[in-house]
Amino acid sequence: MKTTFSFQLALAFLPSVIAHPTTENVIHSGGQRYACKCYPGDSCWPTPQKWKALNVTVGGTLKEVIPNWAVCYNTFEGKPTYNAAACAAATANFTLEQWTTEQDILNLWIFWSNNTCLPTTNPDSSCTLGYYPEYVIRAKAKEHIKAGIDFARENNVRLVIRNTGHDFMGRSTGYGSLAINTHDFKSVEFTKSYSGPGGYSGGAVTVGAGIQGRELLRLGYQQSPKVAVVTGECPTVGLAGGYIQGGGHGPLASIYGLAADQALSFDVITSDGVYRTANARENPDLFWALKGGGPSTFATIVSLTVKTFPETKTAGAVFRINSTHTNDTEVFWKGFRAFHNLSNRWVENGIFSYYQLLPNSVNAQPMVAPNKTAAELKQILKPLADQLSSQNIPHSLTYHEYSTFFDLYLDLFTDESSGNNMLVGGRLFTKTDIRNNGDGIVDAMRQSIKAGGYGLIGHIVGPGTGAPVVDNAVHPRWRDGASFSISVLLQPTNATWEQKQAAKTYLTDQVDGPLRAASPNGAAYVNEGNLEEPNWQQAFWGSNYPRLFSLKKKWDPNGVFYARTTPGTEDWEIIDYGTRLCKKV
Ligand SMILES: Cc1cc2nc3c(=O)[nH]c(=O)nc-3n(C[C@H](O)[C@H](O)[C@H](O)COP(=O)(O)OP(=O)(O)OC[C@H]3O[C@@H](n4cnc5c(N)ncnc54)[C@H](O)[C@@H]3O)c2cc1C
Ligand SMILES: *[C@@H]1O[C@H](CO)[C@@H](O)[C@H](O)[C@H]1NC(C)=O
Ligand SMILES: *[C@@H]1O[C@H](CO)[C@@H](O)[C@H](O)[C@H]1NC(C)=O
Ligand SMILES: *[C@@H]1O[C@H](CO)[C@@H](O)[C@H](O)[C@H]1NC(C)=O
Ligand SMILES: *[C@@H]1O[C@H](CO)[C@@H](O)[C@H](O)[C@H]1NC(C)=O
Ligand SMILES: *[C@@H]1O[C@H](CO)[C@@H](O)[C@H](O)[C@H]1NC(C)=O
Ligand SMILES: *[C@@H]1O[C@H](CO)[C@@H](O)[C@H](O)[C@H]1NC(C)=O
Ligand SMILES: *[C@@H]1O[C@H](CO)[C@@H](O)[C@H](O)[C@H]1NC(C)=O
Ligand SMILES: *[C@@H]1O[C@H](CO)[C@@H](O)[C@H](O)[C@H]1NC(C)=O
Repeated sequence: MKTTFSFQLALAFLPSVIAHPTTENVIHSGGQRYACKCYPGDSCWPTPQKWKALNVTVGGTLKEVIPNWAVCYNTFEGKPTYNAAACAAATANFTLEQWTTEQDILNLWIFWSNNTCLPTTNPDSSCTLGYYPEYVIRAKAKEHIKAGIDFARENNVRLVIRNTGHDFMGRSTGYGSLAINTHDFKSVEFTKSYSGPGGYSGGAVTVGAGIQGRELLRLGYQQSPKVAVVTGECPTVGLAGGYIQGGGHGPLASIYGLAADQALSFDVITSDGVYRTANARENPDLFWALKGGGPSTFATIVSLTVKTFPETKTAGAVFRINSTHTNDTEVFWKGFRAFHNLSNRWVENGIFSYYQLLPNSVNAQPMVAPNKTAAELKQILKPLADQLSSQNIPHSLTYHEYSTFFDLYLDLFTDESSGNNMLVGGRLFTKTDIRNNGDGIVDAMRQSIKAGGYGLIGHIVGPGTGAPVVDNAVHPRWRDGASFSISVLLQPTNATWEQKQAAKTYLTDQVDGPLRAASPNGAAYVNEGNLEEPNWQQAFWGSNYPRLFSLKKKWDPNGVFYARTTPGTEDWEIIDYGTRLCKKV
């Protein structure tokens, strides 16, 4: 008797990362046997009573998802929804990035929502959820996040964590899922001298999971003395969600390293529903994995502590060649080649650049030179100016100087637009490849743009140049990085399933193929990459992959968390036209 009792007691108190889902859901599809998550219509889908009980646990923050544009349609799921004024307002906000991030479930890039309820002027057409979640918890406290994780695990429901909705590859949405929205976790606390484990004693900031880049930079600017943080170039991207778990590059990355290099401590909830801290002392293996090992893979982040840096004067440059300057395609490409071929020089001098490369147009706004004067930046850019002038390439190149980085950030970075319907891919070019094949890389970019029909979103970024070496999960090739490009393939919103499959193959072969071939020492970036990336484990994580795979098995053995092409998801498949998430059994 006594033995049994203590055995059960021991089980009850054991950190139960090994708990099995309580609800099996085995189905057959295409001759294969699958164990799937539970979906509406399945007998294992939670009853209304269970959802009601969850809503009580999460303080009434559970919502049944109704797509924002349902108000433009007569009905949604049989209930009347049309409201002309609400439709006009929501439609006006469709392309507003900040507004989109504030919504419960919207994605900025709409392809992975499946586009089944877009703004329309035809209320008779149909509005369905598509790949948006069934339910969302608009979490206000960490207990709400825990309750969502526990509910998803116990009921075998697909779980999605949604922070800002920036994920290019649809990883913050999912058919038939329960989403947990972390947008309202906005706490921010600065310290001048960090005293946690790891041996670092400089400035730091602890932020809630929902904090966004510009919002945090603004608060840093209000400190005395002013401090800066490694965030994305994009003002509205998160810091503590997918961004840092994928690596996170940005305007300060060429001097300080990636965002994942700045992490000092994470407060998280693991798949077993346990609150844990991950840092140099507690759960160091989890700490390592969270720093670049993939979004929504090892735990849900509740808060994060990262290094801050003293604000300094910062110089900027804006470099452009477009139809104002020349309509000669060959002249244009000579000019772009001169710019890109100097990537190694740019990053060795701590420079970051965000640029758009379109057919016959480059807009490098801005090139950022932290802790440099405009005169110093001009000196660094001299080889570019010299080449452009000796080859008679018309262009514009202007210099700007600011007393802080944040002043530059406000002036030269702008909000981007939401509502784009594109597939994305991309490639990290290393210094080695640029040295060996700089011209070939630019030729490949030209080919890629021609195939994709739009352009490339370019970044000059070298997170291995001046920054201290950090042991974390990001692809080691980032340390030799100099240039990272996102490729895009425009999609019509009415594409059929077959057309979408063909587009994915086309992206992989024709748009990304040339980039991959030109950069044998390159890599791909999990946050801004192609879901069909060949050999994705190697492409996204290189030699770090085997350890990440085993850590996924340790911290989330049953796949409570899921994001496509992240460690340990090999057994999982989304079947039935992008709907059911299942494991082959
Ligand atoms: C316009 C635009 C600009 C961008 N600029 C940059 C840039 O400058 N630098 C850069 O590196 N990347 C950039 N990105 C890519 C960005 O890093 C990824 O989209 C990233 O996944 C966004 O993370 P998020 O949490 O803000 O977004 P979300 O879409 O909400 O989440 C992304 C992923 O993270 C998971 N996740 C979210 N919150 C948590 C959490 N608390 N715990 C665990 N998992 C979580 C989600 O489940 C999902 O898998 C940009 C993207 C866009 C659309
Ligand atoms: C959850 O509770 C709140 C507050 O009572 C309510 O407004 C909301 O509709 C409920 N959600 C669901 C899914 O029933
Ligand atoms: C659109 O955004 C504006 C402000 O950004 C806001 O006032 C308005 O309510 C939004 N419309 C909807 C439908 O949310
Ligand atoms: C997703 O879109 C495709 C068309 O591209 C359609 O065939 C499919 O039914 C849609 N699925 C859902 C769940 O909306
Ligand atoms: C081209 O560059 C010039 C000079 O910077 C700028 O004024 C103009 O807006 C650009 N044109 C386009 C179409 O981008
Ligand atoms: C390029 O072509 C456009 C459109 O024809 C024209 O407006 C522009 O002046 C041309 N640019 C140059 C440099 O000739
Ligand atoms: C800026 O550069 C100076 C010397 O060039 C250096 O002493 C200082 O530490 C730098 N500041 C920052 C914040 O990197
Ligand atoms: C680009 O750089 C490579 C290697 O540094 C060099 O061989 C090549 O000539 C350069 N191309 C141009 C157009 O400057
Ligand atoms: C999508 O819409 C375009 C433009 O209206 C039309 O030409 C095309 O045939 C449509 N495609 C499908 C698959 O319906």
